This record gives sequence, structure tokens and C-alpha cells, in this order.
Amino acid sequence: MKIQVCIIGGGPSGLLLSQLLHLQGIETVVLEKYSRDYVLARIRAGVLEHGFAKLMREAQCGERMDREGEIHNGFHIAHDGVMDRVDLYKYSGGSSVVVYGQTELTRDLYEARDRAGGTVIHNAEDVTPHDMKTDKPYVTYRHEGQTVRIDCDYIIGADGFHGVSRKSIPRDVLREYERIYPFGWLGILSRTKPASHELIYAKHERGFALCSMRSQVLSRYYVQVPLEDTVDKWSDEAFWEELKSRLPEDIAAKLITGPSIEKSIAPLRSFVVEPMRYGRMFLAGDAAHIVPPTGARGLNSAASDIYYLYHAMIDHYKKSDDAGLDGYSQRALARVWKAQRFSWWMTTMLHRFPDNIAYDDKLQETELAYLFSSEAAQRSLAENYVGLPF
Ligand code: FAD
Ligand code: DHB
Repeated sequence: MKIQVCIIGGGPSGLLLSQLLHLQGIETVVLEKYSRDYVLARIRAGVLEHGFAKLMREAQCGERMDREGEIHNGFHIAHDGVMDRVDLYKYSGGSSVVVYGQTELTRDLYEARDRAGGTVIHNAEDVTPHDMKTDKPYVTYRHEGQTVRIDCDYIIGADGFHGVSRKSIPRDVLREYERIYPFGWLGILSRTKPASHELIYAKHERGFALCSMRSQVLSRYYVQVPLEDTVDKWSDEAFWEELKSRLPEDIAAKLITGPSIEKSIAPLRSFVVEPMRYGRMFLAGDAAHIVPPTGARGLNSAASDIYYLYHAMIDHYKKSDDAGLDGYSQRALARVWKAQRFSWWMTTMLHRFPDNIAYDDKLQETELAYLFSSEAAQRSLAENYVGLPF
């Protein structure tokens, strides 16, 4: 089979690029390792910046997001016995974020690809990119016992942190930057009314907690846990008790609890690989960079990669102009590093670090005291949280 662009990974990055390129007459195949049900059972991002929402609309996938997603003009930070509000709308010059689950957004993208007759191969095994440094790259995979070869002009590695694309690039070509945090987030989803209309990020001496949501009847909560913890160690009762202990008393007293319908632990990591291109293969999204989830930047960083690649591909195919492809890595990384900085800052400000000395604790307190005493600091937080321009 011959196709213009072969996309490895059927997560939000790969599907969104596939759909956008299709609408421009550029044809793609998406190869996904797992079944659709498996991909849609993963509970991840919940907060989208408007740049992402705009791309979803451009991909003709924004209808349900606009109907069911919630616009949030601010969020709260509970710390040191007080609850302060970050006014995103005021301090970002009238912007906000959209609360809409990654699961729903991925479902919308799959449905759009189906409607357009797009090819998404699920359960593609042993996906392998070849000859990326030549002008005739190809991808092989196994499906239902057969080995299949796809010849293409370009390969997109959108297969997440554990995918094959980045690992197929010789190690001496890449530079990796990484920080592993000494804790993870234990998250649960429950069919309960959210604790508050807006998200609450809580810094507490027992550790960080986050009250988020997917809708007014579906809540998402997280607590910081040691890396060694496993999900089976945490009963629902133990989770709710721990969460309440980290929230302001009035919020904890009103918290509506219920059985968890999903429970998982995500380790926290910052990671960037440079460059994001190897010959005719381009990396996008979590395949090239990971942030700790505290600043809600991961999926939003993927969106800017997709935006740059989408425009670069249009320039290549419609104007024979390769400046966008040639400049992709540098342009994408400039924004990726700003998301890294912001996510590291939010994480450092709000979590309990086991090795902190008393001096570090004082600085953490002072960071928050400064933030809520300075309009300039709140403006900086807001412009990053709603998303820097693409
Ligand atoms: P993925 O979603 O990882 O998709 C990659 C796809 O490739 C997967 O479907 C995978 O099965 C497939 N694949 C893997 N290996 C192969 C292979 N060898 N062959 C073929 N296919 C393969 N981000 C935000 O912006 N806002 C948030 O609020 C937010 N909250 C988060 C909360 C948590 C708890 C976590 C863990 C993450 C959160 N994120 C958030 C980050 C966000 O979920 C990721 O950045 C996002 O999923 C990246 O999308 P992606 O398509 O690049 O990668
Ligand atoms: C969610 C995750 C985040 O990392 C975040 O900062 C806000 C919300 C969530 O899953 O709802």
C-alpha cells in the first residue's frame, strides 16, 4: 500500500492530524497498537486550552465538545489554610479553558475518521518504521497474522511515551532531558457531583490533591502518592478519607463520595527529546515530550505539535514549500520547553517533596504568598494555563 502520510499511534495526536490532513486532501493511515475500546478506556486529560478546541473545530470535531464541554474562567488553589482563586479570565485578557475529557475527544475523532472513511488499523502489532533517512520511507506491521508494508512520503510518530517511533531513532542522534519526580498521582473517576464548580488544586502537608471533573455528574479526583504505591493498596474508602484530609474543611464536609468507576496511578515525569525529526519521520505529542500533569499541559502541548505539522504538510503538498517541515523541530520545541517550565513550576509549588529541607518548605509557602499578592504573577500563571499562542 502507498499513502502520503503514515501515522503511528491512534491517540488524540495521531487522530487529530489524520483528520485535519484528510480535510485538506492529504491522505493518511493510522496504525494503533490496541483496540478502540482499550484506547477509550484510558482516563487522562480533562482540561483543554482554546487553541486545542479551535483545532478540534477546524477538524470538524468540535460540535459535542462545544455542547457538552464546560468553560472555566478560573480555578482555586487551597494552601496554608486559605483558598485563593486564580481568575483566568481577568488575568489572561478574557481567555479561559474548556473542561472536556480526553476520552470523549478521542471518541469524537474516531467517529469523524469513520464518517470520512479514514483508515485506522487497530491491533497493529510490531509496527516498525524503516528507511526514515531516505526519500522512500516505509512502515511494516503485523495484522491478523499477515505482515503488511506501507510505503509513504512521511511517517509521524504519535505513539506516546512508550511507543516505537522514538525508540527507532539511533540513540546518538537524540538528546534526552528527563526529570523523574519521587511520587505519582492516584486518580479516581466517580459518578458524583463535583466538589466545586471550578477545579481545586490543594497543597497540603500530607501531599497534593486535585478536585477536577468531567461533567456536573462525573468527578475526577487525584491525590499525590509515593511511587511504590499500587492501586490495590487503595480502597475507595481510603482514597476518600485521604482526599478529605487534604482539602479545606468546608469542602471536605460537603464532598459527595461514591464508588470509583476507574482508579489508576500515573507516575510524574518531565521528559523532552531533541530533535523531534529524524529524516522523514516527525515525532509529535507524548512520543517526544512528557510533563507532570499538574499544569494540564500534556495534551495541549501535543496540540501545538499537530498545528505546526499540519501547516507544514499543507505547505509541502500545496505549495512545494518545505520551510515548515525543516523548521518543525525547532519551532515545536520552543513551545514545548515553555510548557515544561510551567508544569515543573506548578508541580514544585504544590507537591510535598520527601527530601525537602525546612528552607525549601518556606520557599514553597512564599511562592504562593507572592503569587496571590502580585497581579503580575497571577497574569503569568493565567497566560500559561490558558495556553501560550501557537
Ligand atoms: P497517547 O495518548 O499516549 O497516544 C499514543 C497512542 O499510540 C496510544 O493510543 C497507544 O496505544 C499507541 N501506541 C503506543 N505504542 C504503539 C506502537 N508501538 N504502535 C502503534 N501504536 C502505538 N494533558 C492536558 O493537556 N490536560 C490535562 O488535564 C491532562 N491531564 C492528565 C492527567 C493524567 C492522569 C495523565 C496521565 C495525563 C494527563 N494529560 C493532560 C496528558 C495527556 O493525557 C497526554 O499528553 C496525551 O494523551 C498525549 O496524546 P498523544 O496522542 O500524544 O499520546
Ligand atoms: C485534570 C488533570 C490535570 O493534570 C489537571 O491539571 C487538571 C485536571 C483532570 O484529569 O481532570
